Amino acid sequence: MKIVVIGGSGLIGSNVVKRLRQKGHEVVAASPDSGVNTITGEGLAEVLAGAQVVVDVANSPSFEDKAVMAFFTTAGRNLLAAEAAAGVGHHLALSIVGTDRNPESGYLRAKLAQETLIKESGIPYTILRSTQFFEFMNGIIKGATEGDVIRLSPALFQPIAAEEAAAALADLAIGPPLNATVEIAGPEARPLDKFARTYLAASGDKRQVAADVHARYFGTELNDRSLTPGDHPRLGSIRFEDWLSRTAAQR
Ligand SMILES: NC(=O)c1ccc[n+]([C@@H]2O[C@H](COP(=O)([O-])OP(=O)(O)OC[C@H]3O[C@@H](n4cnc5c(N)ncnc54)[C@H](OP(=O)(O)O)[C@@H]3O)[C@@H](O)[C@H]2O)c1
Repeated sequence: MKIVVIGGSGLIGSNVVKRLRQKGHEVVAASPDSGVNTITGEGLAEVLAGAQVVVDVANSPSFEDKAVMAFFTTAGRNLLAAEAAAGVGHHLALSIVGTDRNPESGYLRAKLAQETLIKESGIPYTILRSTQFFEFMNGIIKGATEGDVIRLSPALFQPIAAEEAAAALADLAIGPPLNATVEIAGPEARPLDKFARTYLAASGDKRQVAADVHARYFGTELNDRSLTPGDHPRLGSIRFEDWLSRTAAQR
């Protein structure tokens, strides 16, 4: 099968590309660096010719509210129109658990807009909503740092190793379109501030994390339901501590 992975050079995309190639498929890793740009439309018609499946795991270069909305809506429209013209039979996109429950987050509003475009496109689709990647913990800590203080919500959080989200995408890509949204999360739910303390301790970082129920996570206050999955998510099996030890050993 010819499968085009939009954002195929990224964290998730490169892992999906590797897995699909191992399964014997013809996989094109598409991104601006390889001449495929979903914002300008450059290279889209050429790369989609003969493709049965498109996996969209591109990300916005900017997380600023307006920029991220412009990215996911423009890219979504351009990509879906090009897929319709090329006769692509399955659009698989990676979204985020909680996109519909956190309207104050500009990033999650943009991901919800991306999902809506997909559902309205008429192209058979599957949306995989994942919780946050372990790899994103550093970005979360940066976003929560004010001077010397890291203020984070104690709301429940259930992150996952990026490779397990990628494995689920690779499986979904070779299956039939579900015309539905499925969720995936990590094996354990714990307060977000505790995950951050564990992360900092593993790298010998002595900074303190203050738990604050009003601390905003990329623009939104959290409760235990904000970023945790609903009933029957797929679950990864890699525990955060094991991932941290493995990542430290690799360094
Ligand atoms: N971070 C999380 O915890 C999390 C959780 C759930 C879901 N997600 C979703 O996962 C997806 C992938 O995230 P990631 O962390 O793997 O992203 P990433 O590593 O930042 O990679 C982004 C990819 O998008 C490509 N890209 C950027 N602009 C593009 C354009 N105009 N046209 C085509 N491709 C473009 C980049 O290509 P170049 O390398 O050429 O720039 C790169 O391949 C995102 O949609 C995100 O919303 C993330």
